[in-house]
Amino acid sequence: MTTTSYSSLPSDVADRLRGIELPDPLGFGRLMAPVMSIAYHRDGAWETPRLTGLDPLPLAPHTQALHYGQAIFEGMKAYRNLGTAFPGSPSMLFRPYEHARRFNRSATRLGMPELDERVFVHALEELVTALEPLVPGQQGQSLYLRPTMFGSTADLSVVPSTEFCFLVLATPSDAFFTAPISAWIERHYSRAGAGGTGAVKAAGNYAASFAAAAPLRENGFHQLLWLDAVEHTHLEEFTAMNVFVRRGERLVTPPLSDTILAGITRDSLLGLGPSLGLRMDEEPINVHELTDAIRAGEDIEVFGCGTGAVVAPVELIGDESGLRLPLPARSTALRLRETLLDIQHGLTSAPEGWQWPVNALPDTPQA
Ligand SMILES: Cc1ncc(COP(=O)(O)O)c(C=O)c1O
Repeated sequence: MTTTSYSSLPSDVADRLRGIELPDPLGFGRLMAPVMSIAYHRDGAWETPRLTGLDPLPLAPHTQALHYGQAIFEGMKAYRNLGTAFPGSPSMLFRPYEHARRFNRSATRLGMPELDERVFVHALEELVTALEPLVPGQQGQSLYLRPTMFGSTADLSVVPSTEFCFLVLATPSDAFFTAPISAWIERHYSRAGAGGTGAVKAAGNYAASFAAAAPLRENGFHQLLWLDAVEHTHLEEFTAMNVFVRRGERLVTPPLSDTILAGITRDSLLGLGPSLGLRMDEEPINVHELTDAIRAGEDIEVFGCGTGAVVAPVELIGDESGLRLPLPARSTALRLRETLLDIQHGLTSAPEGWQWPVNALPDTPQA
């Protein structure tokens, strides 16, 4: 590991980072970076986010978010810059302004104040710069970043919080899934209903999936594959990934609605597919037609995509009725994964704004 001098960071932050090593294996969330970014929204305005130690927060037992769930988050990554297009930038964020916009959509939906997109991105840049030695070097690894906002007013009334806390946490990580996954079709519970919060990253969306995930874990499956809440007939998405199905040269994903999260990886793949000779379509996917076609041995690939997993091929589909449908290994998901990772690591060029180089501190040695 390179040694870095932290003389241009606040001394308490620099002290936290001295001598820190990446865990081996890296895993996901094994090492929480000891430094985070924090800002409060008080009296109608945001403070400027600042770096501080990852210490417990002073929270009253009647803090609003603990009772009424006024809490949102983003999941995004800083990747080691392995290319030559941005010399002087050891790492790069992927599409940070898209994440900033989605964070604000989530905030608005939950009655929380927006954060200026530039302030959001600057907080990330500052944190990634400070945590530069924690951005791992191998392709597919990253510094996972977790911007969060919650209602921090101590008040038991069922009204929106008047004070909010914005945090950015970080943890060096491997890709969430490094091998093909198994998908459990959820036939009973629903993730999101029309007019609800399914299209944003509300913390409660994830809490509501935990009980449904119990049989999945008992059966050794990895991800819930949710169906629409009205008929339980059309694919929506995984718990933390969007879904794609390839049939021949056609790659299909369900159209966005107020029950599906507008994944930034999904949008990126829709943009990249045509350059790989794929026809990309957004249309409803009927679960019965899909399982019949898999049973009939058609050339079909199913995969999930998201910031954590990048692209995760599905090798088995199951459900509570005992359905077990293996899917043979195919190459489209892996080709898309490699194409996207090359962009995320700066090895190939990308549309404007996708690669966001993060500058080094003046005294950071360059590789
Ligand atoms: C419900 C849900 N769908 C899809 C995704 C994928 O979104 P993205 O590609 O922006 O990470 C995520 C992860 O953020 C998610 O939580």
